[in-house]
Amino acid sequence: MPFVAAIDQGTTSSRCIVFDSDSRIVAIDQREHRQIFPRPGWVEHDASEIWERVQQVVTGALAKAGLRPDELSAVGITNQRETTVLWDRATGRPVHNAIVWQDTRTDVLCAELGRHRFQAETGLPLASYFSGPKIRWLLDHVPGLRERAERGELMFGTMDTWLIWNLTGGAAHVTDVTNAGRTSLMNLATLGWDPKILAALGVPESVLPEIRSSAEHYGTATGVLEGVPIAAALGDQHAALLGQTCFDPGEAKSTYGTGAFLLLNTGKEIVRSSHGLLTTLGYQFGGEPPVYALEGSIANTGSLTQWLRDKMGLIATAAEVETLALSVEDSGGLYFVPAFSGLFAPHWSPDARGVLVGMTGYAGKGHLARAVLESTAWQTREVVDAMLLDVAGLSAGMPLRSLRVDGGMTANNLLMQTIADVLDVPVERPFVAETTCLGAAHAAGLVTGVWPDLDALRAEWRRAAEWTPRMDAATRSRHQRKWAKAVERAKGWLD
Ligand code: G3P
Repeated sequence: MPFVAAIDQGTTSSRCIVFDSDSRIVAIDQREHRQIFPRPGWVEHDASEIWERVQQVVTGALAKAGLRPDELSAVGITNQRETTVLWDRATGRPVHNAIVWQDTRTDVLCAELGRHRFQAETGLPLASYFSGPKIRWLLDHVPGLRERAERGELMFGTMDTWLIWNLTGGAAHVTDVTNAGRTSLMNLATLGWDPKILAALGVPESVLPEIRSSAEHYGTATGVLEGVPIAAALGDQHAALLGQTCFDPGEAKSTYGTGAFLLLNTGKEIVRSSHGLLTTLGYQFGGEPPVYALEGSIANTGSLTQWLRDKMGLIATAAEVETLALSVEDSGGLYFVPAFSGLFAPHWSPDARGVLVGMTGYAGKGHLARAVLESTAWQTREVVDAMLLDVAGLSAGMPLRSLRVDGGMTANNLLMQTIADVLDVPVERPFVAETTCLGAAHAAGLVTGVWPDLDALRAEWRRAAEWTPRMDAATRSRHQRKWAKAVERAKGWLD
């Protein structure tokens, strides 16, 4: 059977894409879900609503493709990472809204536990971003949950686990190494839950799913995908690394969605960052050794377009941000640091908040739109600089020759050109821009034999667009200095 489906459960929407065996998109369906903001800094999702949306997009994509489930060889799952759901083992109902990765409510807890505690084991600083502290918060703050967890009545999952559990009718409570690696509870070297961390965070092992590889048979779907093997699960950024065919050490991609996430394949080597990056799993295929990666996570990029549209009312549609930014020559001296969830890589400053500096009476909304777009480019530059420093002495060390990009924001030519200018390397977008879904489909299709090996996938990567640097070095370093000053002003706001 030549068709493979991928489900991408993202921060703002869920999508299902059906691919054929030439990696062409046959059909796509997408639906948004609600963003729930109970307090400043808190972000929640309704996991039941997400499960509804996922079933709708699967049904929608199959209908558009004119396919029945039994015509699919496999389905691969990819998902927003870290977002934490607890549900009742008996009823299958969530016991609280899911706490989203952007939510900062556990920051005080992380500070108390120590920001670098467990970094050697997990590759991550202890930050509100990751799932472990979110589980602890739920058990501490929702009446009765800790007792129910101790009695074995609750299950935890990130979105991959929640979807696989629902798709299999409750038969499989599993996660993959890339998602487990984002909980702050998994040991990077053993790929198992770390008992010392579980004890320190007060998370009972009974709530946790079994950790499996990223590409293997987890179970057979029921319902809307009746009979289809569920054969891959990967965090969305890891799926995009696969979709961009970054299989070799030194290859990197950056995905521009709600946030931006730059991943560099470091091969079999666990590279410990000394410059504010995360050490993470790239992927693991079945029983093969895992492939590791360095990651620079940026919390807010695409979400800023929504913010300009929904909260500031400056644009009516997301696409208008580019038109508005192009209405002016430059940012008019404005620098915008979008520390809405604090600053992630490479700063990890939870007490930072957004700033707009350089304001004069000259500044208009076009300048603001431009400064907002430029903030994505400068944050990318900070992450790339940190990566180059981290890998400088390694065999996998790379002078970055180009950056492969994907995600919704790559439709914005001005932004892509600005990223090329600021990085001073070419930026390349592949023909299939849906790399997250493509990576999940490829991983699943490798398991069921739709594609024979990685070389077959590599051969299918085609460049659709390229932006080459046009900014002179003096201009670049002048802006870089200003940007660095603006970042310093964002830091320490909550002190
Ligand atoms: O770590 C969070 C990330 O996985 C979310 O990605 O594309 O849903 O914003 P996205």
